[in-house]
Amino acid sequence: MLDLSNIAAVFAQRKPGHALPQALYNSPDVLAFDLEAIFGQSWILAGFTCEIPRPRGTLALTVGASPVVITRDRDGELKAFHNSCRHRGAQVCADGASARARLTCPYHQWVYGLDGKLVHAKNMQESFDPSQHGLKPIHLEEVAGAIFVCMADRAPAFDRFRAHLEPLLAPHRLNEAKLAHQNTLVEKGNWKLVMENARECYHCAVGHPELALTFPVGEARGDHFAKEGDPRHAAYEARLAACGLQKGPYDGPWWQVERFPLREGQVSLTMDGQPAVKKLMIAGEEPDVGSLRWAIEPHSFCHSTADTTVYFSAMPTARNETLVTCKWLVHQDAVEGVDYDVERLTDLWNITNRQDRDLVELNQRGVNSLGYEPGPYCEDSESYVMRFTDWYCDKAQDFIAARTGLDLRPRAINEVPSLAETFSNVIPFVSDSPTMAETAVSALALADVAPLEQRPDAL
Ligand code: FES
Ligand SMILES: [Fe+2]
Repeated sequence: MLDLSNIAAVFAQRKPGHALPQALYNSPDVLAFDLEAIFGQSWILAGFTCEIPRPRGTLALTVGASPVVITRDRDGELKAFHNSCRHRGAQVCADGASARARLTCPYHQWVYGLDGKLVHAKNMQESFDPSQHGLKPIHLEEVAGAIFVCMADRAPAFDRFRAHLEPLLAPHRLNEAKLAHQNTLVEKGNWKLVMENARECYHCAVGHPELALTFPVGEARGDHFAKEGDPRHAAYEARLAACGLQKGPYDGPWWQVERFPLREGQVSLTMDGQPAVKKLMIAGEEPDVGSLRWAIEPHSFCHSTADTTVYFSAMPTARNETLVTCKWLVHQDAVEGVDYDVERLTDLWNITNRQDRDLVELNQRGVNSLGYEPGPYCEDSESYVMRFTDWYCDKAQDFIAARTGLDLRPRAINEVPSLAETFSNVIPFVSDSPTMAETAVSALALADVAPLEQRPDAL
């Protein structure tokens, strides 16, 4: 059971606009909290419909520490479940895609249908009710060939995200794609350091000389996304209009969608900037449409160029270890060795990911220092990092507040509760732990939230 008062005290130390307090990057308790409060409560980009293209198939993955499985039934309908057997909890399907009509637990061979219902459990006593022991369903949404799952009881609102992503992503025809390659990389760093690194290009000009040939790395605050007044802007917009492609940008609290041009003359995110696949994913023959960046908090981003879609996902595996999964999609008719070469398709991101791994590991080692003190983000070049950490802290504090009533975010003066009000919320939880009241008081102090009667400017 998580001690949320201790976690709240850590969040109370956070200085907006600054890197996070040390414990948020290296405490085992915070990792357990993140798995439940963040990964357990968010939409996760789990994979793509082309990974289970035919009826009767499954796609399994591990979200944080929770195995989940997506099924496609004989009518083609997608569903998602906790991938944990209702007997003694074993993981039913190994991670990855598979064609199958039944899900059989490898431990004692309980058998589930693709609808999650338990259809066979050998030798069970007469009183056993199979209808009460189906796999537990989780939320699933599909948008233009991308599959999202959420393990929360009440998933975050999805409709606005769908409305904005769908028209930009649909022209990339992910439903007619195939998985050309995937790989994983273990990074010895906390997942938030991996994601912070992935949300900025402040480090790219020096850290990624290969990526810098195609990706407009040097420009701040998304200005590489071609603004009005830039002569490239009109030409780029004309090309997009001719292809019927929208540009955006659109964003919400946990997502961003935007199409942007690559460097002049570069049309794909490859080592030489030229397409890696002869058969394009988008309709038509115009390869120079830039990249559609679609990014989902807490764990992923994708780049969809005319020829390929690259997926990046970061999953925490330990307090200072993260598993990065990359997937490359190409058109289903593209033939390996004829239309594309896997090495050429994957080279740039493999090099970039290894460079990023080294930077993340460097970051984690320094963050572990006794001398670590969170420094200020660059507002221009790290605006997406600030978005990420703001979102993370908001989401975490919403979770804490919903379970304890303890809301330690800085507020406007006339919204600051009295100490008595605060403790009237905390008291039901304090009874479990004699140290919690003390912790809550110190957390208030750390949050710089004085009781109302002590504030000279309070009315
Ligand atoms: S744990 Fe699955 S059948 Fe026993
Ligand atoms: Fe990087």
